[in-house]
Amino acid sequence: MAAAPSILFIGDVVGSTGRKALRAALPGLREEHQPTFIVVNGENAAGGTGITSRIAEEMFALGVDAITLGNHAFRQRESWSYLDEVKEIVRPANYLASMPGHGSCVVETGGVKLGVLNLMGNLYLDPGRHMFTLAEAEIEKLERQGCDHILVDVHAEATSEKVAMGWEYDGRVTAVVGTHTHVPTADARVLPKGTAYITDVGMCGPRDSVIGVRKELAIQSMRTKLPVRFESATGDPWLCAVLVRTEEGRKRRAGSITPIQVSPRVE
Ligand code: FE2
Repeated sequence: MAAAPSILFIGDVVGSTGRKALRAALPGLREEHQPTFIVVNGENAAGGTGITSRIAEEMFALGVDAITLGNHAFRQRESWSYLDEVKEIVRPANYLASMPGHGSCVVETGGVKLGVLNLMGNLYLDPGRHMFTLAEAEIEKLERQGCDHILVDVHAEATSEKVAMGWEYDGRVTAVVGTHTHVPTADARVLPKGTAYITDVGMCGPRDSVIGVRKELAIQSMRTKLPVRFESATGDPWLCAVLVRTEEGRKRRAGSITPIQVSPRVE
């Protein structure tokens, strides 16, 4: 009997170092874990802010099934039409409907349908619409589309909003995974009704940094309170991810969630 479907979700890919780390680590992760689906948050992939169509295509060519975004979704103007055209890249659903792109998609492998929903928190971020009120309609839409599993990427600053979203959809979706803070949290678990949850997966990018930014520049900004042009750091890359194994024979429920952290060699 085939193993229950699994989802490898990789946290925010930051800059060229994050992209190199993804490229270096993904073949080994695929070999070792044989995930049915690979989903990547790519919202910091282009120099730390946003994603370009070329970078997204590179990720898809590596075997990524879907890309989620966040507060930098629209920073690369070139990508706006790409966000409209390509189904498998999603930006937070609770941005304004008038903004480019869409908030959810369905991808299919071997007859298994995975719905991917991207949401953005309202505390300290400005998506335009409320996350909790938008989430229900989006999840209902994915249920109507016959998704065997649903993964929700909650891109948020506040741990409280992510924790609350996990409880809100426990038993409705396969996984609620948090992104944006770039620091992995130690709370991965399957909630009582069967939803895999983690407050933040962490990033795929340079650890020798302040959440991806060259640390000298981040410190200078904090010390002086003057404007500083941030640059992505390059040292000591790591890739943070979670592997969600779905529960055998049950739709939209997880059997386990396992954090993964690797330090790939990049040139
Ligand atoms: Fe972010």
